[in-house]
Amino acid sequence: MGATLVTGGAGYIGSHTVKLMLRQGYDVVIYDTLELGHKQVLKYLPGAKLVQGDIGDGNLVANTVKEHGVDSVIHFAAYASVPESVAQPVKYYQNNIVKTLTLLDALNAGGIKHILFSSSAATFGEPQYSPIDENHPQKPTNPYGQTKLDGEHILHWYDVAFGIKSISLRYFCAAGADPEGELGEDHTPETHMIPLTLLTALGRRPDIKMFGGDYPTRDGTGVRDYIHVTDLGQAHILGLEALKNGADTTAYNLGNGRGYSVKEVIETGRQVTGKEIVATPAPRRPGDPAELVASSAKIEKELGWKPQYGDLPTMMRTAYQWFESHPNGYEG
Ligand SMILES: NC(=O)c1ccc[n+]([C@@H]2O[C@H](COP(=O)([O-])OP(=O)(O)OC[C@H]3O[C@@H](n4cnc5c(N)ncnc54)[C@H](O)[C@@H]3O)[C@@H](O)[C@H]2O)c1
Repeated sequence: MGATLVTGGAGYIGSHTVKLMLRQGYDVVIYDTLELGHKQVLKYLPGAKLVQGDIGDGNLVANTVKEHGVDSVIHFAAYASVPESVAQPVKYYQNNIVKTLTLLDALNAGGIKHILFSSSAATFGEPQYSPIDENHPQKPTNPYGQTKLDGEHILHWYDVAFGIKSISLRYFCAAGADPEGELGEDHTPETHMIPLTLLTALGRRPDIKMFGGDYPTRDGTGVRDYIHVTDLGQAHILGLEALKNGADTTAYNLGNGRGYSVKEVIETGRQVTGKEIVATPAPRRPGDPAELVASSAKIEKELGWKPQYGDLPTMMRTAYQWFESHPNGYEG
């Protein structure tokens, strides 16, 4: 078995996935600019090699593939902030599309035939029904979601032209941290609901904003599907194995099939931390759907994926444990 190149492997989801891969005997080469990732994760990923570089550097990608005997790739590297993508679409097209094309060309030249791709629930846009399955129309409502959908389409055509088989995993909201407390979520700026709630509990933010209180949901606040980052990591390993066993190019939605409202997240945050969390109502944000919940039935049935840490208190407890023990993130 050759090595697996993990682009963006020093980031949040990438590092958690690499930890599981190492446990399961994979030879891993992390390929990351470290612009948003953290070199410190390597301390907890013994055996993983790091190549510090940009996916837009085709020569370095090609050399890395050759030098390390890479035969499969997980492509996490991307920019991933919806509001930033609306403000700076070019930045997102450059990194997520233009550089992905350079990466894919270098991988194709290097004979790579198996690729796992980080897609997103953001490819679906406004839900037409719930839970969202793989047949739901994909009509993104922001440049970030559009770049992820374009990535799926590009991979489809790479299969047609070059026989490269890929699996696109469309994650809903990744959450939680390494149950062993070594790896966690360290995004700057942080934009995700669960870390923002917990950082408020720790007094590092004055309050948590509840955008929209008049949605047609059970308590009026928006409902999202959260998936534990370790469960997400395991899905990537199942995907790699499936490709190695001859699976065809396809896509899977990944959530835990259960939505939690903003109010439920904040209330669970209060229970898990035992701390007061000031929640401030705010107007709806444009483009935020009322509810985003995944059906993961396809990946459960076809790849045998089963979430181990799917309940909200566990997700929040693991995240909180890491925030408490790393008050300054990986720098601390
Ligand atoms: N976090 C979520 O809830 C979520 C949901 C759906 C999809 N995703 C997707 O999952 C992937 C990982 O997300 P994350 O939350 O771990 O993000 P992250 O920012 O923690 O990790 C991304 C990593 O990619 C690296 N990177 C970015 N551009 C690069 C480039 N041009 N060359 C090399 N490295 C580069 C960054 O330095 C970083 O380490 C992304 O593709 C994202 O779009 C994330």
